[in-house]
Amino acid sequence: MSNYTKYTHIPVLLDEVLKNSNLNPGKVVIDGTVGGGGHSFHFLKHIRPGGFLLGFDRDSQAVKLADEKLSSAFEKNSFSIVNERFENFSKYIFLLPNKKFDLFFLDLGLSTMQIKESNRGFSFMKDEKLDMRMDTRDNLTAADWLNSASEEEMEDVFKKYAQEPKSRKLSKLISQRRREKLFETTSDLVDLVKKLYPYGRKHPATRIFQAIRIVINDEIEHLESALREATKYINSNGRIIVISFHSGEDRIVKWTFKNLEKEGRGRVITKKPIIASEEEIKENPSARSAKMRVWEAA
Ligand SMILES: C[S@@+](CC[C@H](N)C(=O)[O-])C[C@H]1O[C@@H](n2cnc3c(N)ncnc32)[C@H](O)[C@@H]1O
Repeated sequence: MSNYTKYTHIPVLLDEVLKNSNLNPGKVVIDGTVGGGGHSFHFLKHIRPGGFLLGFDRDSQAVKLADEKLSSAFEKNSFSIVNERFENFSKYIFLLPNKKFDLFFLDLGLSTMQIKESNRGFSFMKDEKLDMRMDTRDNLTAADWLNSASEEEMEDVFKKYAQEPKSRKLSKLISQRRREKLFETTSDLVDLVKKLYPYGRKHPATRIFQAIRIVINDEIEHLESALREATKYINSNGRIIVISFHSGEDRIVKWTFKNLEKEGRGRVITKKPIIASEEEIKENPSARSAKMRVWEAA
């Protein structure tokens, strides 16, 4: 049984995702970020009978949770979920009928369960060990990184992924502090951010935590190649849908889709990203920064 038991992740932009998926019975779906199985559940409702869903998540607890949820609603032979990074999806393509699919879907970032009950230090609001690994089989934790990265590397990361105006000062403070005492918990980092911004209103720890999480999980590096790889196995008129929560990720999705269009491989369906309505944001504040882009194969 999964350790994620108390919270449910509400799937973001669900109506928009379904409207843009063009699914019907018999279609084949890859959900690269299955999380709590929210979107997958609805995909399966649309593709059965006859369809198949292959899901991925690098968090083993998410895989267990999604498997439990989907198994209680659908036939076991209509889906399979693998504890693996979606970047490696092609290793499992043999599981699909005809080794092809009609939808490649990514809903990037973190799930509610990871933030609220993983105890891995994803949120600055909770005092937990500074871990931040989505996949606990990976070696480097956030504390390891803060205790060992060079000042230049840290400065670069805070600039690039947090657009942090005080990135140099922050890196210096981190290396000073670790000479006195190594980083262990989220509060160690929050205390340091408070030194940098003693009078801050919006908590700058949000973007600093996000930047560290992106590095620890190597979240942006392989996105473009994964999308390109997906175009090799997608059926004609099949769709790729990506929801991202970070401007760096959204930029990669936008340019990859544009370039694939220029190369004659398909077309961009969303000239501008789709965002959540006020109503959805009210019900689910984590939809606030979601941007969804859709591409269709030639
Ligand atoms: C926002 S949640 C997905 C929620 C899901 N769509 C739902 O409705 O329940 C993102 C999930 O993607 C997973 N994830 C992030 N990057 C990943 C990657 N490169 N490969 C596989 N899973 C990843 C995270 O572990 C997390 O469970």
